[in-house]
Amino acid sequence: MSNQTINSAYPISLQEIKAKLAKRKKRNQNNYQQLELIPDETNLRIKTITNEFNENIIRVDGDIPIDLSVNQGERFLFISYDQSSLTHGLHKYPAKFFPELPRWLIQRYSQENDWILDPFSGSGTTNLEALLSRRHSVGIDIDPFSRFIANVKVTPLNESELKSTQSQLVQELVNYQAADIKESDIPSFPYRDKWFNREILLELSYIKKLIDNLETTQEIKNFYLVCFSSIIRGVSNADNNCTRTVIRKKLNKSVYPADALKKFTETILIEIPKIIQLSKIYPQNIKTIFPANMDARNIDFKDNYFDLAVTSPPYVNAVDYPRTHQLEIYWLGFFKNSLTPLKKKQIGTESVSSIFYKELHHIGVTEADKKISIIFEKDPRRAYIAYQYLADMKKNLQEVYKVLKSEKYYILVVGNNTIRGVTFENWKYIMSLAKQIGFTVETYLGSEIIKHFIKVPRDERINTDWIIVLKK
Ligand SMILES: C[S@@+](CC[C@H](N)C(=O)[O-])C[C@H]1O[C@@H](n2cnc3c(N)ncnc32)[C@H](O)[C@@H]1O
Repeated sequence: MSNQTINSAYPISLQEIKAKLAKRKKRNQNNYQQLELIPDETNLRIKTITNEFNENIIRVDGDIPIDLSVNQGERFLFISYDQSSLTHGLHKYPAKFFPELPRWLIQRYSQENDWILDPFSGSGTTNLEALLSRRHSVGIDIDPFSRFIANVKVTPLNESELKSTQSQLVQELVNYQAADIKESDIPSFPYRDKWFNREILLELSYIKKLIDNLETTQEIKNFYLVCFSSIIRGVSNADNNCTRTVIRKKLNKSVYPADALKKFTETILIEIPKIIQLSKIYPQNIKTIFPANMDARNIDFKDNYFDLAVTSPPYVNAVDYPRTHQLEIYWLGFFKNSLTPLKKKQIGTESVSSIFYKELHHIGVTEADKKISIIFEKDPRRAYIAYQYLADMKKNLQEVYKVLKSEKYYILVVGNNTIRGVTFENWKYIMSLAKQIGFTVETYLGSEIIKHFIKVPRDERINTDWIIVLKK
């Protein structure tokens, strides 16, 4: 990139960014007006449609009615409109819930002031929805980066403090000078200069420094850090949409000087009004907790504590969460070196040692064991990964059983995998394991996936999520 191009891109123009955002707002408003054409009567938002295989599916647009009639095994297509409402859209997260789903389950199966648990809370969608429905909640996630995002999404902020820090940041972003960045301001991490162009490294370091130097509350800084984190993948040289952080030469991804400055400015201008909106409607006396050092297989709460648990556990070997967020984790300083210890703690991990997979392991569910044996013939390592996944999920079911009150529900949203060409129906095996532990299956229903934020590698596609309602 010649110096001339760099100079012509700096400093960024605030008018240009505001004009772009106004255009986007108008486009969204137009879309919204089109949506408004759908009469807001519950019965008209629910209709039976047929899919490409001529199967009947019930389509529900927007909020799911609390008393929706559900026959066991029925399949639904839920169309979500709230994925970026309030703080829900603050950061991408693989296999994130669409908000209407936990909202529906929470309102259907619990009461105000109840305690809700999500043992695989990820970016905290369940917790934000619990809060908005006036329920206390706990979110457990092994990954400190997820807990960081989730915490920010449920923390109200002071409006005037936010607005004054916003003006200060915008002013400093517009005045950016690459020469102000010293080499010591740029963090070092593996292959840094392959992941990022030089200009972007300087811009990101500048933004990070601005946030670190703000004289404000830690909560506000954390909010800006999540905004910062949310732009990192887009301005890196890695594929924007893949769950693994990889550079794909074929994509010919273009990143230009000033992109990081522009994207960060856009993000804060979009997200600040939303967190202000959340802060204004923030319910009083509702607690939301993300305990550190807790694992879904070892839940350190009193027996019979929770009134409801709602979750979407990881898939078998489908998403490598630490690798998904490795660049963000390095920039935010969560890990300086290897991500392997965190990877090993992930349920569904591919990071397994060869001493374990020489032998065939069985879980004690006939259908699952048959599939594990077939996979073992093709690939002993993957057979062990599948077995270990179910063994870990069994531990989780036992733990949730313990901390849940009796007669209360544990609801899991689980997808299937194809492992070495073998369909591995996790949801059925999880239901069998749950029955062994003492749960009864209240009902189960399918949720067709039309818009997943993840591109699953190989041909391991996921089409229907199954919502399993278990009763203690
Ligand atoms: C499908 S994601 C959850 C997404 C979440 N529903 C949302 O809306 O953002 C699954 C999560 O399980 C977490 N996880 C994996 N192994 C875990 C373990 N042993 N204990 C707790 N969390 C774990 C992963 O870090 C990941 O965030």
